[in-house]
Amino acid sequence: MTRTTPLGVGLVGSGFLARTRARCYRALPGGGGRLLAVASRDGAKAATFAREEGIPEAVKDLDALLARDDIQLVDLCVPNHLHRPFTERAAAAGKAVACTKPLTAYVGQDLGPEASDAEVSGVDRRRMAAVAIEDARAMVEACERAGVPLLYGENWVHAPAVRRAAALLEASGGRILDLRGWESHSGSHSPYSKLWRYTGGGSLIRLAAHPIGAMLHLKALEGVAREGAPITAVSVVADTAEVTAGVAPGPGVATGWVDVESWGSVSIAFSDGTRGLAMGSDTMVGGMQSRLVVLSDQSHLECNLSPNDALRGYGAAPGVFGGEYVMEKAAHDAGWHSFIPDEDASSGHLDMCADFVAAAAGEREGRSTGALGYEVTRVVMAAYVSAAEGRRVTLDEVTP
Ligand SMILES: NC(=O)c1ccc[n+]([C@@H]2O[C@H](COP(=O)([O-])OP(=O)(O)OC[C@H]3O[C@@H](n4cnc5c(N)ncnc54)[C@H](OP(=O)(O)O)[C@@H]3O)[C@@H](O)[C@H]2O)c1
Repeated sequence: MTRTTPLGVGLVGSGFLARTRARCYRALPGGGGRLLAVASRDGAKAATFAREEGIPEAVKDLDALLARDDIQLVDLCVPNHLHRPFTERAAAAGKAVACTKPLTAYVGQDLGPEASDAEVSGVDRRRMAAVAIEDARAMVEACERAGVPLLYGENWVHAPAVRRAAALLEASGGRILDLRGWESHSGSHSPYSKLWRYTGGGSLIRLAAHPIGAMLHLKALEGVAREGAPITAVSVVADTAEVTAGVAPGPGVATGWVDVESWGSVSIAFSDGTRGLAMGSDTMVGGMQSRLVVLSDQSHLECNLSPNDALRGYGAAPGVFGGEYVMEKAAHDAGWHSFIPDEDASSGHLDMCADFVAAAAGEREGRSTGALGYEVTRVVMAAYVSAAEGRRVTLDEVTP
């Protein structure tokens, strides 16, 4: 890095994702980004969060962050319905914006707060797609107008395993023929994830969005390297289901999904005729699994983001390791486990924060930008249309 003083970062949100981001910014080497303030809905919670994470200040809201000249990058770790309005406000204030995935979702933003949960999830999927894609476009355009980068928080793109795979693919000059990727675990920690009006869908948008992002990224890189232009997604065939219906609550998979799927798959057809098959599901106990298999005419690559076997360990009884963290979504430490040595690094979150900072400082273009987030939104929303209508759907037909 050429900067002598760290770039100022403001964090919005103090929940699950914000914890990861706070750890990562703290771990960036000197001259990287420095978290200067956190804003959250609940001031007391923000103050506790700031104290625990070593952030100098908790401020009352987004406006208080935006008013500060020493903050150049705003990192949005807030629920999906806030992504567009917060991005527009941050961009108008001249701040670089990092927005977590999904860039946008349909959460009834065109219905108003009085709409019931059933009315939100009952909206025709084509209308949902039009609203969510329009929101994504508006976010990209707002940042373009303001001349600030919009960085899309897809950690898979930054994961060391995916970066190494991209380098090997480029060196081989191969054609990616077949991508298979999934993220699965035993169910979200948040009760909000069970309702469409908060998340904009279930495992497809919450989990499969990750492999979808990585696939679109790798095919785009391949196209640029081989033909000078990205290979893009053109159509999808998808299926979704609530497969835990009837399962009694217990120590296994999460239950109680109200109006969202706990299993989703999408087959993506790319402009060169090749395919990517992405899945997300809340059906897997034993820790989160995040995998991407890349099959080219020259090679076979397997990215194991989680778990990975850098450290395998066996606990003779629950609690034998004194409550030490195991890995995301591991319920306990008894039996065999993958004690991932540095999950923030292997998941890509650490390098992603470094990339956010470098892009916000104008040192390079971000690796995962609003353009990727926009395309992921198109794939996910086309997938919901396909699952509802039971047929292949092109991205163009659902894009307003
Ligand atoms: N790997 C990934 O990329 C990844 C992983 C997890 C989540 N996510 C994404 O991250 C986002 C947040 O998810 P999460 O799991 O972190 O949710 P969470 O634990 O519920 O946290 C959400 C945070 O947003 C804050 N918030 C809500 N309304 C706000 C407002 N008007 N102004 C300021 N802050 C507000 C909440 O504050 P209070 O606590 O005060 O209510 C809370 O701190 C979602 O878009 C999700 O899809 C991405």
